[in-house]
Amino acid sequence: DKLGSYETLSLIAVRQQHRFDQDSLERYLSSRLPGFPRQPAGALAVRQYSSGQSNPTFYLQKGGQAFVLRKKPHGPLLPRAHKVDREYRVQKALFSAGFPVPEPLLYCSDVSIIGTEFYVMQHVKGRIFRNISLPEVGPAERSALYLAMIETLALLHSFDLQSLGLQGYGRGPGYCKRQVSTWKKQYDAAAHTDIPAMNKLAEWLANNLPPDDNGESLIHGDFRIDNIIFHPTEARVLAVLDWELSTTGHPLADLAYTTQFYFWPTSIKDLETPSFEELVSIYCRCRRISTTLPNFNFFLALSHFKMAAIAQGVYARYLIGNASAENSHEFANIVEPLAERGLELSKNSTQHSISGELFHQSRKGQEILLKVKQFMKQHIYPAEKVKIKYYTEHRNTEDKWKKPALLERLKELAKAEGLWNLFLPDVSGLSQLDYALIAEETGRCLFAPEVFNCHAPDTGNMEVLHMYGTEEQKKEWLEPLLEGKISSCFCMTEPDVASSDATNMQCTIERDGNSYVINGKKWWSSGAGNPNCKVAIVMGKTKNSSASRYKQHSMILVPMDTPGLKLIRPLSVFGYMDEIHGGHFEIHFNDVRVPVSNIILGEGRGFEIAQGRLGPGRIHHCMRSLGAAEAALEILCQRAAQRETFGKKLYQHEVVAHWIAECRLSIEQARLLTLQTARKIDMLGNRRARKEVAMTKVVVPRAVLKVIDCAVQVCGGAGVSQDFPLAFMFASIRTLRLADGPDEVHLSTIARWELLDQSKKLTAKI
Ligand SMILES: Cc1cc2nc3c(=O)[nH]c(=O)nc-3n(C[C@H](O)[C@H](O)[C@H](O)COP(=O)(O)OP(=O)(O)OC[C@H]3O[C@@H](n4cnc5c(N)ncnc54)[C@H](O)[C@@H]3O)c2cc1C
Ligand SMILES: *[C@@H]1O[C@H](CO)[C@@H](O)[C@H](O)[C@H]1NC(C)=O
Ligand SMILES: *[C@@H]1O[C@H](CO)[C@@H](O)[C@H](O)[C@H]1NC(C)=O
Ligand SMILES: *[C@@H]1O[C@H](CO)[C@@H](O)[C@H](O)[C@H]1NC(C)=O
Ligand SMILES: *[C@@H]1O[C@H](CO)[C@@H](O)[C@H](O)[C@H]1NC(C)=O
Repeated sequence: DKLGSYETLSLIAVRQQHRFDQDSLERYLSSRLPGFPRQPAGALAVRQYSSGQSNPTFYLQKGGQAFVLRKKPHGPLLPRAHKVDREYRVQKALFSAGFPVPEPLLYCSDVSIIGTEFYVMQHVKGRIFRNISLPEVGPAERSALYLAMIETLALLHSFDLQSLGLQGYGRGPGYCKRQVSTWKKQYDAAAHTDIPAMNKLAEWLANNLPPDDNGESLIHGDFRIDNIIFHPTEARVLAVLDWELSTTGHPLADLAYTTQFYFWPTSIKDLETPSFEELVSIYCRCRRISTTLPNFNFFLALSHFKMAAIAQGVYARYLIGNASAENSHEFANIVEPLAERGLELSKNSTQHSISGELFHQSRKGQEILLKVKQFMKQHIYPAEKVKIKYYTEHRNTEDKWKKPALLERLKELAKAEGLWNLFLPDVSGLSQLDYALIAEETGRCLFAPEVFNCHAPDTGNMEVLHMYGTEEQKKEWLEPLLEGKISSCFCMTEPDVASSDATNMQCTIERDGNSYVINGKKWWSSGAGNPNCKVAIVMGKTKNSSASRYKQHSMILVPMDTPGLKLIRPLSVFGYMDEIHGGHFEIHFNDVRVPVSNIILGEGRGFEIAQGRLGPGRIHHCMRSLGAAEAALEILCQRAAQRETFGKKLYQHEVVAHWIAECRLSIEQARLLTLQTARKIDMLGNRRARKEVAMTKVVVPRAVLKVIDCAVQVCGGAGVSQDFPLAFMFASIRTLRLADGPDEVHLSTIARWELLDQSKKLTAKI
């Protein structure tokens, strides 16, 4: 039986009933175990693990080396229990396959050595958590540990028995049926009072066995967080322990057993772990199976039944004076509630589908999202006031273009926490989908993206240099940008021509010996006012009469201190100078001369670069603005609940209630499209997601503006004032319907792609 795992894992003197001949063991190991210290004889120290796995487990130490020994108990044993040879076999197979288990070193069937069979394995140093709430660590780490656990489980279940060399390891089909009868017998043997729910549950389980009860995956049988050794500092599984109950059977039994605490009657208070849905969806993704888990409720009910039977067993031992821990008597109290919860779950015939999990963030994405959320709470929101004060004090001085010192400090903090350059998949390891939800979080506060080095236009510029820059260009400009030491601007739009058609662009980039000479006017160069802005990527015309309209333009790197480059004036956005983002400047270029090596990718390749630049970059704006919409809706609801007119709270006026609902609809719809697009970019690349990118670019700013507009309306005069962030939010988001191409241009693109898609359908039919 598996009663012992409730006890804490600590080392004690070897128990009376488990003692064995240590000298004999030492002699044996000296001759058989490679690397086991031979001298000095008699120096082997043996301690026992107090946690009462039914197979006694010992810690061996000699000459600075540590090993773990597991043996059968002495005396007559139940058939099929305590099979240490099976444990050794399964660990050996898994270890060879690269699965995290302690390396099994030696198996001894000769009972003359220490009185029973035994095996010796490597001693793994790391962390074991006894309390499933993991109170020792913070929420982000806790989350990471749980995710590591569930990924390990998925890995275990993806092994093929043949290739592990474990044919015949289990007992063939009918695992669930055997489980039900085994635990029923255990329970009956230990029962001290009649618990009707237990009997009913047993009956239900026996009558509702899953149709696919012939699964032959390798399963652990007792997969829980406290049977895992984690790396001492990282969220990494070093070893899964206690393979006594391992067999072949239905993998969902393991999954349900591992996740059952989510359904426990006495809810675990304040247990900040990933949600049940998150764990299950990650498990399913790792195993590449659908998140619709047929009969999952059977497995949950079975887990509850098994747990209740175990608890009954612990209590029975207490009654006969063989308690394995001080709190054994408490187990009597949980049998019935567990059984009742199991029955409830059994009645739930709806298939267990993980709702709201159309889009799966990777484990890393989830970890970072959690960290970003905490960082926002801890550092960003409190900094808002300091920021406002700084800009109020410096409104009429040139210092307004400098960044408050606090911002630099926050950047250092974020960098130290690894919350840095999250937008660039090659650097962050995050997918666009992962980043979408992270960017949304940072978008709740308009200056936050910069703290994580994830702000436009630097993000787009870094992407350009990363994708198209030469080694020297990367060294000179990309590296300091990635480190956040400098910033940059992007100069494409021109005051004298309609720039939504970039072929209109007049600024010239002409070759002259070893230089290019740039002449022209640009405006709306965002970020150029930032004293840290050291370089511009400038797009201009390099005439080539033999090339097409789209091969006449080039992009080139221009250091901001190059003679002839002049900042003319900042442009306001609805009156805002947008100082925190370095403003939006008109810049003139008069005979600005840079070395030929500053050209990016080559002459005439400007449009090619622009395409690459604006794929993910366009939807990053959308993701961030969804965060702004969430912030606005929050403000709206708070205000509607605070203020009263004509005898009612604002939200009690039905029209306001409907606005609230409409805002929620808009946000959810817009987010779904954004995530869908992010996933498409991840799966198919920028080019094949062009239609979705364009749709997102149109839909999201519209939806967000609608929300902010409602919020302004509900807040009344306050909404348009400096006391609320809504006015600046509105101004900022409104520009997204122009910047990176106005809506109309994207709508034309969408229509073109739609017609093309439809025509393909027609051709396919013919
Ligand atoms: C806050 C802000 C920041 C910006 N940052 C930058 C930056 O950092 N770098 C940079 O280079 N630029 C930047 N821009 C410029 C932005 O990209 C341009 O404003 C945009 O591309 C539109 O160009 P335009 O202003 O010349 O408008 P125009 O090209 O003159 O277009 C005006 C209007 O014409 C209509 N129109 C255009 N084409 C079509 C069509 N095919 N069908 C129907 N109607 C059409 C649209 O309604 C459009 O809004 C920024 C703009 C703003 C507001
Ligand atoms: C586990 O940790 C939680 C959170 O700190 C605590 O409330 C609970 O009592 C602990 N449980 C046990 C069994 O120690
Ligand atoms: C109780 O424990 C003792 C030794 O501690 C053992 O000899 C005895 O068999 C146990 N009784 C039961 C019923 O398990
Ligand atoms: C039944 O399952 C559905 C879907 O998983 C869930 O929402 C509901 O809460 C469950 N009911 C019970 C009683 O567990
Ligand atoms: C001009 O364009 C043609 C056709 O695209 C190309 O072959 C040629 O190399 C271009 N000339 C320069 C100087 O880039």
